[in-house]
Amino acid sequence: MKKAMFTLLIVLAGLTSANAQTSEDPKGKSIFKENKCVGCHAIETQGFLKKGKSSAPDLSNVGNKLTTDFLKKYLKKEEVQNDLKHPVSFKGNDEDFAVLTDWLAALKKQEAADTLKSK
Ligand code: HEC
Repeated sequence: MKKAMFTLLIVLAGLTSANAQTSEDPKGKSIFKENKCVGCHAIETQGFLKKGKSSAPDLSNVGNKLTTDFLKKYLKKEEVQNDLKHPVSFKGNDEDFAVLTDWLAALKKQEAADTLKSK
């Protein structure tokens, strides 16, 4: 009986750690990678470095600039920025899209956040 309890505990511990979202690899980050956003965008604070000569901006600080609501429209080409639509429309499912846009809106550089506050 003791052994069974012990085994159960081990299994449970394994399950919780598998489900846990560590800050190192949050779900939004994998969605960003899976949807090929990394092909154009760097996010230096997340370890995605600029490659090639894409003109797409680094998104390390995008949360200081854009809201989740705006991102949801912009990444479906329903909204423009500087008179331009985003070059691609998000192709994944709604659930992933919600996680992705929340994750993006939370990307803020501490330094920039402080500067904004002191203004
Ligand atoms: C084909 C290249 C390309 C791909 C793929 C791409 N983007 Fe972009 N993205 C751009 C370009 C170029 C801009 C800047 C457009 C402009 O100047 O108006 C941009 C702008 C943005 C912005 C606004 C940034 C800012 O500072 O205003 C966000 C947010 C963004 N992209 C997110 C994404 C996400 C999320 C994905 C994946 C679903 C993605 N992009 C895929 C090229 C790309």
